[in-house]
Amino acid sequence: MLSYSPPPNLLQNRIVLITGASDGIGKAVALAAAAHGATVILHGRNVRKLEGVYDTIVNAGHPRPSILPLDFEKAGPAEYEQLATAIEKEFGRLDVLLHNAGMLGERAPIEHYDVAKWLRTMHVNVNSPFILTRTCLPLLRRSEDASIVFTSSGVVARPRAFWGAYLVSKWGCEGLMRMLADELENTRIRVNSINPGKVRTNMRLQAYPAENRDLLPTPESIVGPYLYLFGPDSKGINGRTFECQ
Ligand SMILES: NC(=O)c1ccc[n+]([C@@H]2O[C@H](COP(=O)([O-])OP(=O)(O)OC[C@H]3O[C@@H](n4cnc5c(N)ncnc54)[C@H](OP(=O)(O)O)[C@@H]3O)[C@@H](O)[C@H]2O)c1
Repeated sequence: MLSYSPPPNLLQNRIVLITGASDGIGKAVALAAAAHGATVILHGRNVRKLEGVYDTIVNAGHPRPSILPLDFEKAGPAEYEQLATAIEKEFGRLDVLLHNAGMLGERAPIEHYDVAKWLRTMHVNVNSPFILTRTCLPLLRRSEDASIVFTSSGVVARPRAFWGAYLVSKWGCEGLMRMLADELENTRIRVNSINPGKVRTNMRLQAYPAENRDLLPTPESIVGPYLYLFGPDSKGINGRTFECQ
């Protein structure tokens, strides 16, 4: 899949919402999507970082993006509704929703796992994609060709000790993706997920602080599967998990 070569105008006229677009994989995917013609809605919780991504896109001459800040840890249903209303007002529809934002949370044996940290991680990693999907579905239904993409992880295929809420949240996202793909089977909305693999980001550094970062693939090098699922070449692909590496 890494060998996918998208045409330069692959995402022309497509409205693409990317959560966690302020850093790491989300930022790289946002820049790549904009470079391929998409109008990107940059979600994150840090406006200053989002403005940096915005400026990079505008300075490169790509379609002007939008910024929609929302802290998934703190937001209630009304704030999700406000986000959807803002998208409706500006664009009238949504073509792509990438659930990328996530947190690692604590890694500890279940016996000692901090309950508050568990709940927070589950909320950001799996409840938020559920609420955002539910809120955005009416906008996605207005698209001629919509695509929802969840973010998976190696811990789904290979569960392992001490990964706590992160592991369970990624299983939750994978289950949500498959259920939703089935529910939307006969619609114009496809639903899939991507496991990025090991990628040189802050989250990876937090998980493996002793690792040599220079040996890891950069976020920019793994955007191929994302662009594929965002664009028309993936029409009809539904309920599948793609690996970046
Ligand atoms: N890197 C890897 O090796 C790897 C492997 C498998 C899966 N993944 C998955 O890939 C996705 C992206 O990870 P990454 O490695 O790019 O991590 P990252 O560099 O830490 O970026 C995470 C993004 O999520 C945002 N975010 C975190 N908590 C949030 C909250 N409460 N509300 C709103 N936004 C929030 C962050 O915003 P801030 O900038 O404000 O922190 C940032 O934009 C995650 O779902 C992760 O589980 C990564």
